[in-house]
Amino acid sequence: MHRVNHRSASLLALRAKPFIKWVGGKQAIATTLVRYFPLDSQTYYEPFIGGGSVFLTLLPNEAVICDQNIWLIDTYLAIRDDWERVASILDSLKNTKEEYLKIRCIPHVQLDLFRKAAHFIYLNKTGFRGLFRVNKSGGFNVPYGEYDRRYYDPENLEAVSATLQNVEVRTGDFEQGISGITKEDFVYLDPPYHKLGGYSDFNRYTELKFYEKDQSRLASICQKLDAKGIRWALSNSDTALIRDLYGTFNIHTIENRREINLNSQSRNITELLITNY
Ligand SMILES: C[S@@+](CC[C@H](N)C(=O)[O-])C[C@H]1O[C@@H](n2cnc3c(N)ncnc32)[C@H](O)[C@@H]1O
Repeated sequence: MHRVNHRSASLLALRAKPFIKWVGGKQAIATTLVRYFPLDSQTYYEPFIGGGSVFLTLLPNEAVICDQNIWLIDTYLAIRDDWERVASILDSLKNTKEEYLKIRCIPHVQLDLFRKAAHFIYLNKTGFRGLFRVNKSGGFNVPYGEYDRRYYDPENLEAVSATLQNVEVRTGDFEQGISGITKEDFVYLDPPYHKLGGYSDFNRYTELKFYEKDQSRLASICQKLDAKGIRWALSNSDTALIRDLYGTFNIHTIENRREINLNSQSRNITELLITNY
């Protein structure tokens, strides 16, 4: 098993960046966001971790990360425990449509942790636009993307692995993701963005969807955290519902670049960062 000692782990971690492309990834604005975060918190919680761009920018000493996408979380665990084993499986996978279709229909639950992670990264790098889309029974159904790019950067996987060594990794709903938080801690919440029209179908990161009732549930959790004196920051889109749900808190506007169509064209979009401090 590949383990890194504590000192080299902290040096390596400085170079870590997301190892997958993820819809809603905050890579472009991560350094702006972390400037709003408190400097004196104990444990950093990020219960909608996704591609982890904010976590990897902040590099907290103590952290709890979580996501409802079990396959994604298993990929983090595999990289933490033995990134080289994941890399060597990736090296054996060919970037062809035939191979892609073969890998795509293997249920990840049948695989061991390391092969599961390799398939996750492979499908993300070779599937159309790095989308994660599954049908109701959890079957991955993104078409082949025909991209000529490498699946991973070994230095980066090693750095991500180092970053994860002392992190508690959870899977499940965000409420489980923040259980145990105290007022010395801080939580950054980056849920699937609210879109007009009910739920964010495009942001279907798991077989479960994030509905308006989940946005309201999240807002009421934020109220409860606030009442306990726990600091939080939350990203979301600039819609009337979100401004209404968080109207009593501090609302900051952040400029972000978003892809707006299938040709990867992008434009500047204003989104919100809401804080209770
Ligand atoms: C906007 S993305 C986070 C992006 C991340 N900040 C990044 O930079 O890549 C939202 C994440 O929330 C996860 N998710 C959706 N519903 C959830 C829930 N109820 N509880 C926890 N995570 C959930 C999705 O799987 C997705 O990874």
